[in-house]
Amino acid sequence: MGTTGPALLLTVLFVSSASGSYPRAQNVTWISTNFKTILTWEPNPSADYSYTVEFSAVGADTQRNSHCIRSSGTRCDLSSSLSDLNANYVADILSEPPLGATSGLIEFPHTRSPRFCPYNDTDIGRLDFKLKVSEDKKKTTLYVTDPLTALFKDGQQLDIRDIFSNQLQYKVTYWKNKSTGKKVHVSPNNVIEMPGLDRAKSYCFKVQAFIPRRRPDKQLGELSRTQCSADDNQSVFEVYSVGVIAAAIFLILLLIGLVIAVSVVCYKRRQKAEDSGKEGMPLRDV
Ligand SMILES: *[C@@H]1O[C@H](CO)[C@@H](O)[C@H](O)[C@H]1NC(C)=O
Ligand SMILES: *[C@@H]1O[C@H](CO)[C@@H](O)[C@H](O)[C@H]1NC(C)=O
Repeated sequence: MGTTGPALLLTVLFVSSASGSYPRAQNVTWISTNFKTILTWEPNPSADYSYTVEFSAVGADTQRNSHCIRSSGTRCDLSSSLSDLNANYVADILSEPPLGATSGLIEFPHTRSPRFCPYNDTDIGRLDFKLKVSEDKKKTTLYVTDPLTALFKDGQQLDIRDIFSNQLQYKVTYWKNKSTGKKVHVSPNNVIEMPGLDRAKSYCFKVQAFIPRRRPDKQLGELSRTQCSADDNQSVFEVYSVGVIAAAIFLILLLIGLVIAVSVVCYKRRQKAEDSGKEGMPLRDV
């Protein structure tokens, strides 16, 4: 096998695989959300070997990331290494001697990852949005915030709109509160005025990123949390205004009654005063 002293010893003592070399990495997987891209594999290595990651865009030179050379970890953050977002990358996980040790092996066992294209394959995380209903309840508007990515340009952290530009749309799923019938509205803008809502009703909304140009299983991002427009206080308002109207009518009637009562009393008093005035007038002259 061409192995010499220490490596041969290692091989004999610790490595059970029939090939007489280090175990291969298994279950190599890309985990990527918002361009934060981590390559993972199994199992944890023993003290007798380590992993090195080599990656390349298809047809380009092989590269390494300094954090993922002869490491005892089982993950490698390649977010900033996969600089061509549209390229298809593959990675190899090499099982090598531990850092500082040497081996006579010329070629180390390796496992190849599936292909990964950042632009097409990274998952889009949950969006956040604000819900605003105009005072007259005629307009319901969603203000969506684009999540930040793990990518930087000129020291500035980019959001998903910076990356996808006009490929990025939003899918709003909405329904009347307490109803199960769901509707969908797609918008290219992050300020979304919802059309055709029933003004008197409370609605609930969920938003997710939508990238129609991707293959079907990667088109939709993670769903946001649900937000509902204010309670159905239209009816409360109606009840309230009926009360107000009743009170107002009652008050007006009360006022009219009072005015009548007061003017009757006054009229009577004045008449009395006039009567007594007539009687008293001769007296005054005396
Ligand atoms: C790889 O994944 C399979 C299925 O999830 C699991 O059974 C197996 O133990 C994993 N391999 C390692 C080395 O952990
Ligand atoms: C709308 O739904 C939310 C959550 O499901 C609930 O908390 C709220 O009370 C509902 N409002 C109305 C008016 O049904």
